[in-house]
Amino acid sequence: MFACIGDALAAARGRIPASEARLLLGVLLHCSTAQIAAYPERELAPALAARFADCLERRAQGEPVAYLLGVREFFGRQFGVTPAVLIPRPETELIVELVLSRSTALNNIPAILDLGTGSGALAVTLALELPGARLVAVDCSAEALGVARRNADALGAQVEFIESDWFAALPGRRFDFIVSNPPYIADGDPHLAEGDVRFEPPGALASGHAGLDDLARIAADAPAFLVPGGWLMMEHGYDQAGAVRGLLASAGFDDVASARDLAGIERVSFGRWRAS
Ligand SMILES: C[S@@+](CC[C@H](N)C(=O)[O-])C[C@H]1O[C@@H](n2cnc3c(N)ncnc32)[C@H](O)[C@@H]1O
Repeated sequence: MFACIGDALAAARGRIPASEARLLLGVLLHCSTAQIAAYPERELAPALAARFADCLERRAQGEPVAYLLGVREFFGRQFGVTPAVLIPRPETELIVELVLSRSTALNNIPAILDLGTGSGALAVTLALELPGARLVAVDCSAEALGVARRNADALGAQVEFIESDWFAALPGRRFDFIVSNPPYIADGDPHLAEGDVRFEPPGALASGHAGLDDLARIAADAPAFLVPGGWLMMEHGYDQAGAVRGLLASAGFDDVASARDLAGIERVSFGRWRAS
């Protein structure tokens, strides 16, 4: 087993990227990656060395770093994650920015629904960024809702969590914003068998032969749950923007458009429910 940090980093060389080895050691030792790099002679207690060896082995087999560490940053905050939830992605932060930019035009405190909340990344972030906003978050996975509730508690966010098949448990409720990062990968897409995605919950990822089944359901059902002038915003795949704009237009939304993520990809499409 590894006696010191330097031994552990040497064992990781060629198996996982050095930056990931430093990150794993930093979390295990509660110190920064800079300190890991600066003090290779620092001793490792046998229990910590064994934990690092376990993480190294699992990472070398492809297990995502976020699941090994149990956390992932989203919009500047740390969210707990387990294999019951999708690992929040940076591109999903675009939805937060779109809601924040549009909420300034409202005269009222917004009511916001997050469909398929997973770790709670969107709902918890919006609750914290828009103090007073009424946040409802649903997921069909009770396990995911458990993770999301723990994140809301840990970060001090007020969110109402509901187990529901999309809108099924929300009769009569109306929102100013409905946001969603639903499953949108095509069944059988080879990406489902690659990288981190192999370890993520299948129910968070795939959605019919073109990946559009859930996007279509949400677009069709959302109008009954929006106030006049309310927005529906949905994340989708890199090549689905045109199809999603078509779904929104067919459902009767106005002002249909898409926004690009930091990579320049049309990543979120949205529409405004008719003013009355
Ligand atoms: C792509 S993940 C998004 C998780 C989180 N919003 C994020 O952006 O990191 C999709 C989520 O939708 C949930 N989901 C899938 N089908 C659903 C359904 N019919 N009703 C409610 N939630 C559903 C999954 O359990 C999963 O948590």
